[in-house]
Amino acid sequence: MSQTKLDVRVDPEIVQAMMTHLRNETTNLAASDIHVPVDHFVNPERARAEIALMKTLPLAVAHGSELAEPGDFITRTILGMPLILSRQADGTVQAFLNMCSHRGGRVEVEEKGKRRVFSCRYHGWSFDAKGGGLRTVPFQSSFDPIDRDSHGLERFKTEQRHGLVWVDFSNNTARSVADYLGPEVDAQLEPWQLEQSAIVIDKTFTLDVNWKLVIDGATDIMHPQFLHPGGVGDLIESNLGVDRDYGRHVQHFGARRKLRTLVEQGGAPEAGSRYIASNLVLFPNVLVITAPEHVECWTVYPHEDPHKSTVNIRFYVRRSILSPEIEARVHKSWEILSHAAGKEDWPMEEWIQQNAKAQPRGTFRYARSDVTCQHLHRQLARELDGIEL
Ligand code: FES
Ligand SMILES: [Fe+2]
Repeated sequence: MSQTKLDVRVDPEIVQAMMTHLRNETTNLAASDIHVPVDHFVNPERARAEIALMKTLPLAVAHGSELAEPGDFITRTILGMPLILSRQADGTVQAFLNMCSHRGGRVEVEEKGKRRVFSCRYHGWSFDAKGGGLRTVPFQSSFDPIDRDSHGLERFKTEQRHGLVWVDFSNNTARSVADYLGPEVDAQLEPWQLEQSAIVIDKTFTLDVNWKLVIDGATDIMHPQFLHPGGVGDLIESNLGVDRDYGRHVQHFGARRKLRTLVEQGGAPEAGSRYIASNLVLFPNVLVITAPEHVECWTVYPHEDPHKSTVNIRFYVRRSILSPEIEARVHKSWEILSHAAGKEDWPMEEWIQQNAKAQPRGTFRYARSDVTCQHLHRQLARELDGIEL
């Protein structure tokens, strides 16, 4: 299979803007630097407010392939909420709170499987996987009358889009995931065919780092040449890029070093992800980073303890191109990433976290060129503080 066949085209407008920056040694700039209080990275109240905000937004919590068939389920705790995701007979996915309506037991303890009924081990109440309704109550005559309609499993609004399963804890029926993402983000995600992709890499890490520092580290464009010399720093141009603001969401396009090499050797700029890297940030906590053969998806969850976060990293590969050769290449990419993140980014972020804990005064400064990195903090300030940073 040829390289170009594997690739997904990048908008020629982006390539033109990138070429201008490459020639002039410039980059996209925000209106100003921003200054984020160090307190925001260490304050438990701030962490609680961020979690509360996230619970009002659609959150990508799973990939459809994890529960492919009707009756398939997975359990997962998201922002402290124990969930069961269950594939329904009509192909939809329903999220239930994994909490018995009798006295709060877990009704499913396995991580995944297939079930028509979820049963609580404490006193044997059971619930239909289809719809979550209360099914059986042992020793029922020992209770006052039980209104079955109000004793099903609690349900959360669940949608599938771009192959991902989105849960909205606020049950906002007026806003779909499509509304939330908007047509521009849809158009960016669509060519990657996430719904027809397989999960090739799936890793989860709990870090002693505030979740925003983890996202900063993955969106900051100034650091690669310093923190990742001989690795990622040699593969991507530092402090050079084009950003697109989609309102809540944002996308950064960066130049791979081979774009400069190609152009310096007199080649025409190629509008492919082999030459242009993209990092699409779905507010607040998902990063979709594209490479020719795969999509790297980060989901970063805060903890109530502001000094901790959990990051899940997945590599998705379109089934149409999946082969042992591609799989081997994707594993190689994971090795490069796991070195950069695990040995370079996250240790730095842990030091920053420790420093912020020791000295939680003052502000951190985000340069004008870190447009995408700024975006998270600007958007959080808008939504949580009602201010423009
Ligand atoms: S707590 Fe579930 S059956 Fe009693
Ligand atoms: Fe990095």
